[in-house]
Amino acid sequence: MVKVLIVGNGGREHAIAASLLQSPSVQEVVCIPGNGGTATLPRCRNLGLSVKDFEGIARFSLVNNFSLIAIGPEVPLAEGITDALQAQGLAVFGPTQAGAQIEASKAWAKALMKEAGIPTAAAAVFTDAAAAIAQVEADGAPIVVKADGLAAGKGVTVAMTEAEAIAAIEAAFGGQFGAAGSRVVLEEYLTGEEVSVLAVTDGITIRPLLPAQDHKRIGDGDTGENTGGMGAYAPAPIVTPALMTRIQAEILEPAIATLQARGIDYRGVLYAGLMITPQGDPKVIEFNCRFGDPETQVVLPLLDTPLDQLMLACTQQTLADLPPLEWKPGAATCVVLASSGYPGSYEKGKPISGLAQAADTGALIFHAGTRLAGDTVLTDGGRVLGVTALGETVKEAIALAYEAVDHIQFEGAYYRRDIGHRVLG
Ligand code: AMP
Ligand code: GLY
Repeated sequence: MVKVLIVGNGGREHAIAASLLQSPSVQEVVCIPGNGGTATLPRCRNLGLSVKDFEGIARFSLVNNFSLIAIGPEVPLAEGITDALQAQGLAVFGPTQAGAQIEASKAWAKALMKEAGIPTAAAAVFTDAAAAIAQVEADGAPIVVKADGLAAGKGVTVAMTEAEAIAAIEAAFGGQFGAAGSRVVLEEYLTGEEVSVLAVTDGITIRPLLPAQDHKRIGDGDTGENTGGMGAYAPAPIVTPALMTRIQAEILEPAIATLQARGIDYRGVLYAGLMITPQGDPKVIEFNCRFGDPETQVVLPLLDTPLDQLMLACTQQTLADLPPLEWKPGAATCVVLASSGYPGSYEKGKPISGLAQAADTGALIFHAGTRLAGDTVLTDGGRVLGVTALGETVKEAIALAYEAVDHIQFEGAYYRRDIGHRVLG
């Protein structure tokens, strides 16, 4: 039997916990710090340790025999949580600080892609505003401006005019993203359809999970500001088996081979954010070093292979020996309910009602920004809940997810009404 510790507090971590608890070999799950959803899962509890307290997390795991630690978010990975826990002999699902650079530095990721021959947008890295602005004036718009470091998803500007690009460059070098903006990547503007391919790896073998599509913009019709993600569905029909074979051969395998050649022992999720060009070619927009959120909330509910076995195979470097991954037939759709004002400022502490009725429809309710006050669930973040439904088709899953959403109420609840619109046509 396995006891698993999960680090993080979003919908992704609730979905990871729920998936692990489906496995017959998982005895107990503890989330640091967790949320209102993980607090109420059977055989799961939250622990009030800081995500930054690597020593405390290691001590707790060793004393209580937690044999697997899964890291949800990118920030602790980039800060070296895996290195610190591995140094104590613990098995960690999540890359080391060196591997996490694939997400934590866009310039580093671009150099790796170049070395590996991975198809991606042409790009150049700048360390001062004047040179970057001169490049924009030479190339013209549209052009994409990216702060190099982690900026909580806010460091990218898809500039449709030169003026927008210049403003973004000035903001980044002016300190808007702190140290993350001290280098800027200018990138060729790609068109096409975006898709997320999350893959699991033990550093040698890499296996894709079902392809998913998320909806990053706040507004219907993919309008307005970028967010962490307002909904998702899987499998994404745009990724045919033939295209997945290409993604594996042209992107995932070269990425792992190049990490390995650099001496980086990468065990966890490699998430490829892809653009499928109008010609049908996959190009990398970005790599992430962790599960996607909300993509995880549609991918893991479809996974039939026990998640602990998959994660342990990654930490033990035995992924090649694991039988092919098993998936439930059909599809999943997740609709995210957010606080009014997100991704800008929003209020917290609003009581949420209708959760039991929503769950009675058969939907899975993943908590993201919630907390418990007695028996009441209160809003506690920008993205509050992810409501996932399974169906025979994406279309059916969409209808069932919205049916469940209809039962849930809190003051200022906001959600997109068009999740899955590319599939519905
Ligand atoms: P990222 O944080 O790198 O995923 O970028 C956020 C969003 O910006 C992506 O999901 C895309 O919608 C968009 N984006 C990033 N890079 C490009 C690009 N080279 N061409 C067009 N859109 C892009
Ligand atoms: N849904 C996008 C992300 O997790 O980065």
